[in-house]
Amino acid sequence: MIRTVFWKDDTVVMIDQKALPYEERHLVCRRYEEVIAAIKDLSIRGAPAIGVATAMGIALGTLHLSPVSGGEMKAAFNRICHEFSQARPTARNLFWAVERMRRCFDETFASGAQTVKKVLVAEAIRICEEDIAINRQMGIHGRLVIKDGDHILTHCNAGALATAGYGTALGVIRAAREEGKTLHVYMDETRPILQGARLTAWELVKENIPATLITDSMAGFLMKQGKIALVIVGADRIAANGDVANKIGTYSLAVLAKENHIPFYVAAPLSTIDMGIKDGDGIPIEERNGEEVLTFHGVRTAPEGVMVYNPAFDVTPNHYITAIITEAGVAVRPYEETIARLIDKNCQGSGES
Ligand code: MRU
Repeated sequence: MIRTVFWKDDTVVMIDQKALPYEERHLVCRRYEEVIAAIKDLSIRGAPAIGVATAMGIALGTLHLSPVSGGEMKAAFNRICHEFSQARPTARNLFWAVERMRRCFDETFASGAQTVKKVLVAEAIRICEEDIAINRQMGIHGRLVIKDGDHILTHCNAGALATAGYGTALGVIRAAREEGKTLHVYMDETRPILQGARLTAWELVKENIPATLITDSMAGFLMKQGKIALVIVGADRIAANGDVANKIGTYSLAVLAKENHIPFYVAAPLSTIDMGIKDGDGIPIEERNGEEVLTFHGVRTAPEGVMVYNPAFDVTPNHYITAIITEAGVAVRPYEETIARLIDKNCQGSGES
């Protein structure tokens, strides 16, 4: 299985996604600042993977603190958390991981620095292992939407590389395959950073899952031709009403899917849902460096002096979404109610109140 990020000998190790598909190499982060840099420059990306890297980065930073007092320890820990919160704005999982590590810190603080360090490392490793288990659970719920022989369209990379392993949207596809279904995947190349062409294609080729690459603008034509049975994508943040922020281009796919009567599914863990945000208008959308649009894989394709706009995500209104697949079950309209119910069920299951 592809392990995207893991803890090893007090370092955070991750597949360097900037190097794919040309080179398979690992980045070894010995300092928390290196983890933040890896999140910012997309060496690690995808909401759940960012969440896991954040938890591990916070544990790594805390491990290297040598405070003279409890107050100093707390201040330094808060600083590290704050720095992670600034790394990327859209993926809810980043903030979810910060909140979970903060809770863990607060609960163990009174036991002293050495205990805090040990407990935070253990918590980060737990978050990583849980992520894989959650994805497998999501696969079990989600595989029901795939029929034998289906052609599935996906966008960006919501695979093993976007998580600790197995994937969300690709996890559902993997689960359907493991069940014995034959299927075929179309993936958009996903401009400007090409997560589809570089990363999803790499994963699917590696596992011999039949897959065809198309450019982003071809999706509508394929749908019209009857070549797509369903669309499955991941999510970076889901508002309480089921509006979904995901990689730029997702909204266009959802509109095209509705026009062509094709079901449109979102697969995401509950940690991607932000109950503090009422609807998609409240989701912060990252705007990235225009160089990503001015160039194609490093080669300049536009004239000097042209203006650029580079939002990294868009928001798909809930009425375009057939269902949201989570580890706790599948939510359908009205999402306000079904999402709240799934979160409730999950809290009861884990003993949280
Ligand atoms: O900019 P990225 O590559 O981090 O964007 C990733 C996506 O948009 C994914 O679809 C999303 O995080 C879901 S990953 C399971």
